[in-house]
Amino acid sequence: MASPERITVDSNLLERMILELAQDGAYGETGVWRTVYSPEWVAATDRYAAWCAQAGLDVRRDAVGNVWGRLEGTDGGQAVVSGSHLDSQRPGGRYDGALGAIAALVAIRTLSERFGTPRRSLEALALCEEEGSRFPSASFWGSRAITGAIAPGDPDATIGYDGETIADAMGAVGLDPARIPEAARDDIETFVELHIEQGPILEQAGLPVGVVDAITGIRHYVVTLTGEANHAGAFPMDRRRDPMAGAAEIISGVIATAHRMGRPAVTTVGRMEVEPNGPAIVPGKVTFTVDARHPDPAARQLLYARHEALMREVAARRDLTIDWHLTFDLDPVICDPDVVGLLEAAASGQGVPTLTMASGAVHDTQRMEAVSRVAMIFVRSRDGRSHTPEEFSSLVDCVAGIEVLAAALQRLAY
Ligand code: HGY
Ligand code: MN
Ligand code: MN
Repeated sequence: MASPERITVDSNLLERMILELAQDGAYGETGVWRTVYSPEWVAATDRYAAWCAQAGLDVRRDAVGNVWGRLEGTDGGQAVVSGSHLDSQRPGGRYDGALGAIAALVAIRTLSERFGTPRRSLEALALCEEEGSRFPSASFWGSRAITGAIAPGDPDATIGYDGETIADAMGAVGLDPARIPEAARDDIETFVELHIEQGPILEQAGLPVGVVDAITGIRHYVVTLTGEANHAGAFPMDRRRDPMAGAAEIISGVIATAHRMGRPAVTTVGRMEVEPNGPAIVPGKVTFTVDARHPDPAARQLLYARHEALMREVAARRDLTIDWHLTFDLDPVICDPDVVGLLEAAASGQGVPTLTMASGAVHDTQRMEAVSRVAMIFVRSRDGRSHTPEEFSSLVDCVAGIEVLAAALQRLAY
């Protein structure tokens, strides 16, 4: 049963914000291509900052370009923060990250209008470069800055897909990498991120909203196999050192390994480069990524050990040189049980049925856990689709999720 104190958010406002934010980096009919520090990203942060100001929040941009909108509380002390990322995959959809940034703003605006000044300060947050879609080793750049997890040498050592450093990309939008330490926060009491689920579990369960109690661990390998470039017709098969043949075997092998381990193990090869990349040339070099995830710490290590053993074995047998490095390696996170319980209670008070579940996607929440209590709210994804322009969540489901968020923030801050 919903309580009489049920909080309602303005669905027209929400729909307008989703559609307007999607214009910054619009890609095709429903997609978004908005990489960090690009003109599209700058436009999105400007739009978000303007919306925060219109909602009466104090707007601040930190040293990496995260946007903060703060509703000052009467009691001082630690803040309650909600938000998500504005950067997208290349291409992504309208909801991944964007919905959580909008949700925080809509929820805080709604609370401010209905309940006035909170006891604890409330902040809406739009984070930068969660996806690592421009700088593959910079995933969680925004939340890493907030949690003090960017080392002094990182900005110059972080190289984008086009060969630029993140330091240069920051400079081009007026940010000084030397000031990154100023973005660190040690005064956040609770961080709650609303995000689309990006998988099919809620849809299968027939539920609009999820409460996240754990987030998967992840590792990204960049694997390079080097052999010998040769003529595709004249050079016999038995003499070849073909890195494509090795890559094919490794790729199908790591995917089969995750299949054999069963849910929730997942392994994906999503990016590949072939040199010289000609139809009549045995390649000299093949580079590909392996994204491998498991929420259980021991099973995760077993998955990685199996992948690495296979990669070594195939390379040795085929007389190929193999190198790999990690661009991303993050432990699983257990969300704060009190915050999980509070989200469940807030949902119940709103009359919104929920499923408490683990996240197979990784999120800035995982980084924020280093400095605050954390948990997440999921909104059902149509057909479980995400990281594609086809991703979609209905307005009704988004409203339900944001109303749960608002009710939770009300309990935390008033
Ligand atoms: O890949 C992920 O899980 C996230 O969407 N960056
Ligand atoms: Mn994503
Ligand atoms: Mn995301």
